Amino acid sequence: MTPKIYTFASWKGGTGKTSLECCAIETLAKQGVNILIIDLDSNLSMSSIYNAIGAKYTSIDLLNGGTNIDPVLCLSDCKTFIIPSDLRIARLNNISDRVLKVNLSKCDLTSYDYIFIDPPGTMNALTRNAMVAADRIIIPAMISDIDYQATGLIMEELEMIGVDADVKIVLNRFDTKRTPEGIEAKFRTDEKLKPFLWPGKIPSMKSICRLTAEVLKGYELQGAAKTIIDNFVNEVIK
Ligand SMILES: Nc1ncnc2c1ncn2[C@@H]1O[C@H](COP(=O)(O)OP(=O)(O)O)[C@@H](O)[C@H]1O
Ligand SMILES: [Mg+2]
Repeated sequence: MTPKIYTFASWKGGTGKTSLECCAIETLAKQGVNILIIDLDSNLSMSSIYNAIGAKYTSIDLLNGGTNIDPVLCLSDCKTFIIPSDLRIARLNNISDRVLKVNLSKCDLTSYDYIFIDPPGTMNALTRNAMVAADRIIIPAMISDIDYQATGLIMEELEMIGVDADVKIVLNRFDTKRTPEGIEAKFRTDEKLKPFLWPGKIPSMKSICRLTAEVLKGYELQGAAKTIIDNFVNEVIK
């Protein structure tokens, strides 16, 4: 079987790409599926969440065309693997947009059900590679005017580079006290965003921050956070 490839992407950093991707990975991993994570971010966020920094084989090797992928097992109790990033990946900001897609097509990925790519938090060649390689692109956006504008820009970028993956926009970090009024309606009524916007939204929750910090210590989402993330996975990922 060929795995389905997911990229969480945004125009700017801090929207919750890595956090929501980690929530999705952990939820699916508990269902017993085989997952490969590809970290393309020079911030090494996923690589540090899963304690894989310093591995010999990195996403630089994958972008350089190595077809014998050698990922690191990131959790002992399930079947999740990661190709970690390397600080030097930031130098690869001139590569063509299709390098990752072409190289992945030459690798044997049949043992994975899902691939999750974590790109950097800026629009550059690495982010474009992650989007071009994806079957589905999830665009997390905070409910702010800046993120509203940034979401419009990433949608334009997808059109310009000719990506025809499924696109889902997910409003994240909703906070009844802090989220400015009216911005959610701006997202929801925008004709260009509407067809791609998930009707739900993810609240700002301590347990979501905590998961990325403590997943390797065995921390799991529970209660309301688990219900929200289960819904998100069922409706946006599956
Ligand atoms: N739903 C959420 N609730 C609370 N904190 C969140 C949520 N989503 C993201 N965060 C926090 O926001 C910050 C940025 O999230 P992160 O996933 O690193 O964004 P990105 O990968 O897009 O740069 C982190 O401190 C993270 O813990
Ligand atoms: Mg990130």
